[in-house]
This record gives sequence, C-alpha cells and structure tokens, in this order.
Amino acid sequence: MSELQFNRHRRLRQTENMRALVRETHLRKEDLIYPLFVVEGENIRRLVPSMPDVYHISMDNLQAEMDEIVSLGIKSIILFGVPAEKDEMGSQAYHDHGIVQQATRFVKERYPEIVVVADTCLCQYTSHGHCGIVEGGKILNDPTLDLLAKTAVSQAEAGADIIAPSNMMDGFVAAIRHGLDEAGFTDVPIMSYAVKYSSSFYGPFRDAAHSTPQFGDRRTYQMDPANRLEALREAQSDIEEGADFLIVKPALSYLDIMRDVKDRFNAPVVAYNVSGEYSMVKAAAQNGWIDEKGIVMEKLVSMKRAGADLIVTYHAKDAARWLSES
Ligand code: PBG
Repeated sequence: MSELQFNRHRRLRQTENMRALVRETHLRKEDLIYPLFVVEGENIRRLVPSMPDVYHISMDNLQAEMDEIVSLGIKSIILFGVPAEKDEMGSQAYHDHGIVQQATRFVKERYPEIVVVADTCLCQYTSHGHCGIVEGGKILNDPTLDLLAKTAVSQAEAGADIIAPSNMMDGFVAAIRHGLDEAGFTDVPIMSYAVKYSSSFYGPFRDAAHSTPQFGDRRTYQMDPANRLEALREAQSDIEEGADFLIVKPALSYLDIMRDVKDRFNAPVVAYNVSGEYSMVKAAAQNGWIDEKGIVMEKLVSMKRAGADLIVTYHAKDAARWLSES
C-alpha cells in the first residue's frame, strides 16, 4: 500500500458542503431566457402537442403567464409570434400591430423590468415558411435584409430590449445594426443567432410556430452539422458586424462549438436549448424512464460548463422552481 503513488480526488467529494465549495459551474435564474409563443385570437392557451407544458398564448392570457414567470424569478423572455395570416413577404413580421409587437408593448408596460428579447425572423410569417424572400425556388439573401431591418426596427419601437435575428442570411447583423441606428435605437443590442445549424432538433418548434418550410429545407442558409471552422467564421462575421451576444444553436450536440466560440470571442455566449432537446427529455420523463429534474439540471449546467453565459430554454420555469428549492 505505502509505496503506491496516486492522487486522492475523492477528498473533495466527501460531503455536500465540501462539493459545493469546489463546484466550478453554477446555474442561476438570471441565466435563463424563457421562450413564449404568442398567438392572435382570444382566450387561447393551447398546448403545443409536441412540446409538453408549452402553450400558445393569446394576448388576453399573457398577463397570467407573465405573473407566473415573474413569480418564479425569471428575468428574461424571448417572444415568438404565430400570426393569423401569412403572405409571401412575411408582412406581419414588421407590422406595427404584429403579434410580437403587441405582446412586447404589453409586457414592457406592465413588467418594465423584464428583459424582452424579440426573435427576428420571417419564417413564421411567410406563406412558404422560409426565412427569406423566395423567387423561383431560391431564398434570396440581399432583398431579405431590408425586411429584417424593418422587423427589428418595429420590434424596437414596440419596446423590445434585445433584437435576436435567427434567419441566417449573410449580412443580417450589419443590416439590422444599420437599421436600428438610423431609427435612433443605437442602444438596442443584437443577440445574433450567429451559429445556427440546420437541425432536426427544431422539429417540435416548427409545430409550435407553424413554420415548416413548404418546399425544400433550410440547408442553403443554416449550417451543416458536420462543420466546426465554419461556425467560427460565422461568429467572426457577426462580431465584426456589431453583434453584442452570440447564440449557438442547438445546444447539446454542439457543446464543442460553444466552447470554441467562448474561447475565441469576448461577447456573451448564449446556448439555445432547442425544442427537440426539450421534447425528448419530456417524453422520456413522462414515460418514467428518466429523472426529469436530474437530467434537466445536468444538461443546463453542461451548457454553462461548455461556455454558455445564458441559456434559452423551455425548461426555464421548471429550472427556476428547482433552483428555488435548493
Ligand atoms: C426561426 C426559428 C427556429 C427556431 C428558433 N427560431 C426554427 C427554424 O430555424 O426552423 C428553433 C427553436 C427550437 O427548435 O426550439 N428561424
């Protein structure tokens, strides 16, 4: 025994308080951004079938939802709109009375301290379900930029605290920054979905947002899951164009990318824990196959360990509840 040489790592694991003392990564309620799906119509609180505990909520039910969010200690939300009407140009995305604009005004009036992030994209608003203008079966880059800037400005006018463009056209941060600045919103930051992969993990969200492309897929604008260096080029461009935050999305299969982005850039990194990642856990939990709390807290802390400063997650309410217990 005495001549064996080894380190005793277990010394620091003996009790809960000892473990807490040496814990390297912490999840806080302030790290969480909760996504909300707002819909047009009245008295709607409709369960999204593929996303347990996630609802479509109409304006008249928003107050109750916000009260719950605030009471749980969540400080930030990201708003997704599900409009009643769609058209080729996604005009409801930049309409002054669009659903996200209405919801933003409502929340900022009643809960001024809550940080409202507005998702800036066209796919929920276009009849073809793509994130840009379509011509002859192609998704056009440059003509889409004007519409994105318009959308961002109308969201800022409604009071959005942060603009989060998710559509992956080239130059979208530059166009939105320019649009915001020209309209006098120099202080409104951009949380760019800088690194967004073309992912099957978005499936349930497309159910929720009614944003499934009507033809083709998003692979000409979203990234190939096999690529790593390309993610750094994307993040680099967005930083140069003026992004204030960098989102990496999805989260769990891309923790390596999150670490790369965190190590290379000095902006806050945001993990987007997407719908498929959420629904898989929920489904397994409902079957009694896993310990939901254990799994959720483990995956959220893994994202932080990988370099995320903030996490957009549908688990935010549960996580906030569990954080209060401990
Ligand atoms: C819209 C958008 C998507 C998500 C966020 N914004 C879907 C997509 O790109 O198809 C995915 C969110 C999720 O899966 O939770 N561009």
